[in-house]
Amino acid sequence: MNILVIGSGGREHALCWAIAKSPLCQQLYCAPGNGGIRQVAECVSLSPTDFDAIIAFIREKEIGFVVIGPEDPLVKGLADRLDAEGIASFGPSAKAAQLEGSKGFTKDLCAEWDIPTAAYGRFSDAASAKTFIAKKGAPIVVKADGLAAGKGVIIAESVEQANDAIDDILGGRFGVAGAEVVVEEFLEGEEASFFALCDGTNVLPLATAQDHKRVFDNDQGPNTGGMGAYSPAPVMTPGLSVRVMREIVEPTVRAMRDKGMPFKGVLYAGLMITKDGPKLIEYNARFGDPECQVLMMRLDCDVLPLLMACHAGTLDKAALRWKDEVALTVVMAAEGYPGDYRKNTEIKGLAEAGAEAGVQIFHAGTKADGGRIIATGGRVLNVTATGKTTAEAQARAYRAVERIEWPEGFCRRDIGYRAIEREKLNA
Ligand code: AMP
Ligand code: GLY
Repeated sequence: MNILVIGSGGREHALCWAIAKSPLCQQLYCAPGNGGIRQVAECVSLSPTDFDAIIAFIREKEIGFVVIGPEDPLVKGLADRLDAEGIASFGPSAKAAQLEGSKGFTKDLCAEWDIPTAAYGRFSDAASAKTFIAKKGAPIVVKADGLAAGKGVIIAESVEQANDAIDDILGGRFGVAGAEVVVEEFLEGEEASFFALCDGTNVLPLATAQDHKRVFDNDQGPNTGGMGAYSPAPVMTPGLSVRVMREIVEPTVRAMRDKGMPFKGVLYAGLMITKDGPKLIEYNARFGDPECQVLMMRLDCDVLPLLMACHAGTLDKAALRWKDEVALTVVMAAEGYPGDYRKNTEIKGLAEAGAEAGVQIFHAGTKADGGRIIATGGRVLNVTATGKTTAEAQARAYRAVERIEWPEGFCRRDIGYRAIEREKLNA
């Protein structure tokens, strides 16, 4: 079967890398892809939101299955459009993708179904939002309702900062995504991510992971799309995973089915492990980036039948196998990210770095220029490694990082520190 993957990040490189290994996959295409994806798939320069062009390409190349990586085409209805054209795909409908596309939608669903999450209010006028903030006090969290490329969440340390965030968001900083705000209680604890495949009815828990959102070591500096990740996340004990399934994920999937918007695809729950147990921070309707990279490295079975089962409604018959290893990924970003950063700088040493034991390098913002690899984005490379422990996976990943010659790039030096501290305690 011919397969098309939509997207251009490290997540899509990891998906293409895993799908290319499937005996079910004949030709693999990626739209638009990047400088690394070219090694495993044919890249085609199509925009993920140009649905007409995507459909025309699918017809021309006789594509049998489409895997949608990023949230933007999902929220805009690519899966619905493909369905209407009789083309099978992995990823939720636009209605189901509201779990990511509208924070207010998800908070209301949690309230209705008693799913543990931070207490909240939804507002579209500044005065009532500020009255709510005055009543609750700081710290408090202000969020744009819609998709804001990971920048729409402000953790306010003071009432004044929260009020400024209200003015900023409702004042139009994020366009229509900020026509409404969610204001919510600040949750204390350790964050973890939980991934589950869903076919509308059945849920197959995949794995846990931990991201590192702040740009600098020791979780300092502004939030980013994620500077590194590892899986599994030891904070998520087997007992906690059972609770997350029972108290959060399963009720959500049931609620979505009851609402007539069954969720098919991967449900990514961002969680805070509080002293009262796991609470939902947010849902995403797609794989995490860079979490997907570590999940694909650990997966020890064919990924394609799993993705296809989400569409076919046959997840109850799907089997899953993991390597008995930890995977860890270090994001290399262009100097300046998440602010303004330099573009079009050359990266060398990738072959040497990729030859390190247990290492795989996934590309994000790169393009190939003849034989050269050029950095074009903010997050540029995911240097990923497996190991028997998080400490071993980390050592391997950083050994590979050392071999990459890219003076205009940087990375965090402490990816995995929480898990490694736990490993030391348990040694
Ligand atoms: P989100 O885009 O909702 O994942 O938010 C981005 C980051 O903000 C999360 O990964 C958390 O670190 C933080 N965050 C969001 N909501 C809360 C909350 N209610 N309490 C504490 N931290 C939060
Ligand atoms: N790494 C966070 C995300 O994919 O949303």
